[in-house]
Amino acid sequence: MRIGFFDSGIGGISLLNEAIKHFPKEDFLYYADTRNVPYGTRTKEEVNKHVQTAVEDILKQEVKALVIACNTATSISINELRSTYDIPIIGMEPAAKPAIELSSSMDKRVLVFATDLTLKELKYKKLITRIDKDSIVDPLPLPELVEFCEDLNFNWDKLSTYFRTKLEGFDLNQYGTVVLGCTHFPYYK
Ligand code: DGL
Repeated sequence: MRIGFFDSGIGGISLLNEAIKHFPKEDFLYYADTRNVPYGTRTKEEVNKHVQTAVEDILKQEVKALVIACNTATSISINELRSTYDIPIIGMEPAAKPAIELSSSMDKRVLVFATDLTLKELKYKKLITRIDKDSIVDPLPLPELVEFCEDLNFNWDKLSTYFRTKLEGFDLNQYGTVVLGCTHFPYYK
């Protein structure tokens, strides 16, 4: 049986790529909810509805485990999915913990890029409350990046203006680490 990978769009392929390298003998099924991408600017209720529908579809295909290769879908729906289905369901969360360890050792701050919804959700807030003891983590929503990615826009001239605008208020010398808290973002690493 295959291992299912699910994302709103092409972001999760960045993760699938790593999984293929680590588990070359496994078969994978990749499901992108391209009809409803982006998730990050929708309401929580809308995202949950889309995720539940997509997962029902995926599980008709017989998979032995499911990776929710999307930080946004994980923050909204992972608990409900895990209590509904009895296969292993693996979720994503922004890698704030290793970033804090790294930045603390340099006496610097951490910047977390993710979707609006991920950063607003209780799951992220709980994570940060638990691990950010010295309050060195700052969030920055970059929802447009998901759309650029889905449009296969990797034009650096346009993107550098976008990043400069978004980062305007930040003194980057203060930061040691940036967390790419959305699976669409590693394409812009
Ligand atoms: N790739 C998804 C994530 O990791 C979200 C993208 C979206 O907004 O649909 O958060």
